[in-house]
Amino acid sequence: MNKTILITGGAGFIGSHVVREFVNKYTDYQIVNIDALTYAGNLENLKDVERKPNYTFIKQDIRDAEGILALFKTYQPDGVIHLAAESHVDRSIVAPTDFVMTNVVGTVNLLNAARETWKDNTEGKRFHHVSTDEVYGTLGETGLFTEHTPYDPHSPYSASKASSDHFVRAYHDTYGLPIVITNCSNNYGPNHFPEKLIPLCILNVLNNKPLPIYGNGKYTRDWLFVVDHARAIDLVFHEGNNGESYNIGGFNEWKNIDLVRELCRQMDEKLGRTSETSEQLITYVKDRPGHDLRYAIDASKINTELGYAPSVTFEEGLSLTIDWFLSNREWLQNVTSGGYQKYYEEQYGKQG
Ligand code: NAD
Ligand code: TYD
Repeated sequence: MNKTILITGGAGFIGSHVVREFVNKYTDYQIVNIDALTYAGNLENLKDVERKPNYTFIKQDIRDAEGILALFKTYQPDGVIHLAAESHVDRSIVAPTDFVMTNVVGTVNLLNAARETWKDNTEGKRFHHVSTDEVYGTLGETGLFTEHTPYDPHSPYSASKASSDHFVRAYHDTYGLPIVITNCSNNYGPNHFPEKLIPLCILNVLNNKPLPIYGNGKYTRDWLFVVDHARAIDLVFHEGNNGESYNIGGFNEWKNIDLVRELCRQMDEKLGRTSETSEQLITYVKDRPGHDLRYAIDASKINTELGYAPSVTFEEGLSLTIDWFLSNREWLQNVTSGGYQKYYEEQYGKQG
């Protein structure tokens, strides 16, 4: 069936994997990628699909309500998969307003445009909002986030994502907009911008630089390979129930320090270094303010209702990720020049 799908944030880390999945799998769909190309957006991520006949890229900021409405009028989308966001917790601590403007106002601009475009007929339409498990706040040593866990965000990033989730649900309840929301755990994989823990450590091991571990390193995250997130989005977009939320995860919790040790072990092996060479780069640094202790997703709903399961184990996914970074040094070189250096010095100091 021919459909037009707008994917926002398609030049970013997760968005580029979602665009690839849809362009290659649904050759009868028109995929329109809308992205403002901030520091995190990179068209190099999509080199392999940019010439496909069912793919179009439009440079557009979602904070611009008129521009967004005009795009909806031109393309008359059947579906929206909304990933565009400011996504880094540490940046949100430094510049929270940017997160309100893109993550909250930008989302409302998209909701208004969808509501206007679909006002006469919502049959076959869907607004899929891509969100995070961070909206649920933090867990203690035990327990899992379910779809019924009350929202309790602590960082400006998670507060802005929680707010956007509430708006999406409100547009469903108030105006009957057909929506689904997915809340996923931490992603890792190819094309990950090296300000987040895993790609930053890969980069620093390569350059023999310190591996900065916040606080005592006992903070716990639940990690999912990015390709498996893209597969889950495909599944929920097509088969999820209208108005519902789905948690996405792979029951894969790691304490930061254990994860970084595993990363060092794999990198020593791949780089032919003596074992435990890279571990010596581990450096404990000042903790992140408001740092959530533990995230862990209960993914039983998507598992039992939609038959979802991740395709790789963490060790396999991490190995694929390291291999990708080792064979894409130019990508790494390009994204770590200029603005990245400035950010890095501000966050970790010149010596880092
Ligand atoms: P990212 O920072 O790598 O990419 C974000 C993309 O959005 C970039 O291409 C950027 O150019 C674009 N963008 C930013 N502001 C924009 C604006 N005002 N207008 C248009 N485009 C804009 O982020 P990511 O890690 O790929 O995350 C994508 C989505 O998934 C986000 O909504 C994030 O909250 C969510 N999410 C991320 C994770 C994770 O671990 N990275 C986990 C769960 C959910
Ligand atoms: P991050 O990749 O920023 O994802 P999020 O904050 O969205 O979970 O961080 C993952 C974990 O790693 C988190 O507990 C913070 C920690 N961390 C470090 O210890 N050092 C770092 O340099 C970074 C970027 C993160």
